[in-house]
Amino acid sequence: MEILEPTEPNLRRAAACIAEGGLVAFPTETVYGLGADAFDARAVARDFEAKGRPSFDPLIVHVASLEGLGRVADASNPKARALMESLWPGPLTLVLPKLADLPGIVTSGLETVAVRLPAHPVARKLIEYSGTAVVGPSANPFGRLSPTRAEHVAQGLGDRIDYIVDGGPCSVGVESTVLAMFCDPPRILRPGGMPAETIEAVIGPVVRGPEAGADEPGESRAAPSPGLLKNHYAPRTPLYLVESLDQAEPRGRAAALALSPSSGPDAARSGGRFDRVVWLSPTGDLVEAAAGLFAALHDLDGQGFDEIWAERASDRGLGPAINDRLYKASKK
Ligand code: TXA
Ligand code: MG
Repeated sequence: MEILEPTEPNLRRAAACIAEGGLVAFPTETVYGLGADAFDARAVARDFEAKGRPSFDPLIVHVASLEGLGRVADASNPKARALMESLWPGPLTLVLPKLADLPGIVTSGLETVAVRLPAHPVARKLIEYSGTAVVGPSANPFGRLSPTRAEHVAQGLGDRIDYIVDGGPCSVGVESTVLAMFCDPPRILRPGGMPAETIEAVIGPVVRGPEAGADEPGESRAAPSPGLLKNHYAPRTPLYLVESLDQAEPRGRAAALALSPSSGPDAARSGGRFDRVVWLSPTGDLVEAAAGLFAALHDLDGQGFDEIWAERASDRGLGPAINDRLYKASKK
């Protein structure tokens, strides 16, 4: 594996690797993805294998332009078109009818495909130069914390992939919002970097959250979004999620993770009960908090704490995306 700076010659090299069936981790505005040619079933199989990802969990197909959707998805749905025009490129993934040319392994045999046009210029160039559409699951071993820096990818998957294109830290920091367009109103299957409020400003009401039972592993085959397991994004250190840090009952060497010193009743919040307290945004900004979330978890996980106690964010803006990641990282 080689880490590449995103220079023109390096992007051409990494794109050629994808076109030849290789695996290239690349930066997007949300998290790093593990890129492979979506039309090369063997390369897609290697992508699943490198991540240790179960084959029933379908991948997102990334394109560099609307034309790139041509052989991938049927994009005729009017609400989908409106969203593409207003909110692409950006952290929004749309689940649309799949077209026949796309190998079934990409969608785990589903008749729908998740597609996204990322905003990160390095991602866009890499896809464009590869001359194909690119699958991009998050570039982490299955079930572990998502990578928001090249070094996270190197630690998790380093010896299993060909290149990592280093685009620096990801600006959004949580994965894209996944929106199912096969129902009306459309349904948010995974809260993410595009807030529900922003989507609703374009197409009106959406249903927030997958159908009940969708996150039960045993039922995942039948669920509308098979990858939405309850335990995901997990650090090795046990993480406990609480409404407010006041409710934490730390034992041993414990760390705390919360939005800001002022996001709840103050007195007992840090109070010397924790060996370390990380505020995700001192000013209480959810965008800043999301951007630093996975990096903070990677960092705390590497420091040998016995426990991490995390405080829920509010339900506005990027709050649901943050809470979803914290819930999935937590002990149930
Ligand atoms: O921000 C992101 O979306 C990142 C970057 C790299 O683009 N990618 C990402 O991919 O998070 P991944 O594979 O880690 O997550 C894809 C999610 C899974 O929850 C999967 O179940 C869902 O999208 N998904 C994919 N295809 C689907 C489909 N046809 N129907 C329903 N859900 C689908
Ligand atoms: Mg993932």
